[in-house]
Amino acid sequence: MNDFRGRLVIKIGEGSHRRVYQHPDDPGLVVKVPRKAQPSRLYNYLEWWIWQRLKGTPDEILLAPCVACAPDYSWIVMERVEITDQSFHDKNNHKDRRDWMDDIKANNCGIKDDRLVLLDYGSKRTAKRLGIPLEIRKPANSKGSRGGNR
Ligand SMILES: Nc1ncnc2c1ncn2[C@@H]1O[C@H](COP(=O)(O)OP(=O)(O)OP(=O)(O)O)[C@@H](O)[C@H]1O
Ligand SMILES: [Mg+2]
Repeated sequence: MNDFRGRLVIKIGEGSHRRVYQHPDDPGLVVKVPRKAQPSRLYNYLEWWIWQRLKGTPDEILLAPCVACAPDYSWIVMERVEITDQSFHDKNNHKDRRDWMDDIKANNCGIKDDRLVLLDYGSKRTAKRLGIPLEIRKPANSKGSRGGNR
């Protein structure tokens, strides 16, 4: 599950901070890798802890779930969702918009189980609103990571 060296070959997306690959062992998952060593790991860190904070709450259905994370945030594994041109800006999705959401453009949204979800929520603004420290200060496996040790 967790040694991706030389195994990330199918790239499915890219943003300003991360490259996104199909998981080599499971096409239903993606692996997000920082474009540069620093500070891009910050966005994996933020996404991981935002997921940890919201999972188990009523708002978890608004996020593509994170599944595993490297202790140093050099990768995170997330459920793959369907790409969409909808966003939380749209009128029909407006009721699901939340204060903690940040960049809700269609590029950052997907469809999971027929619902609109965010697939990119590693955001400083969201972390601030949820009381998550804005700097990396603990390894991902200190709480809740699965398959996090290399
Ligand atoms: N869970 C996912 N399922 C399917 N596709 C995904 C998933 N996560 C990311 N992608 C694809 O990869 C692209 C880049 O991912 P993401 O937006 O997380 O990167 P980023 O570098 O944080 O982006 P930004 O430039 O918005 O900060 C997305 O726009 C989407 O097309
Ligand atoms: Mg994005």
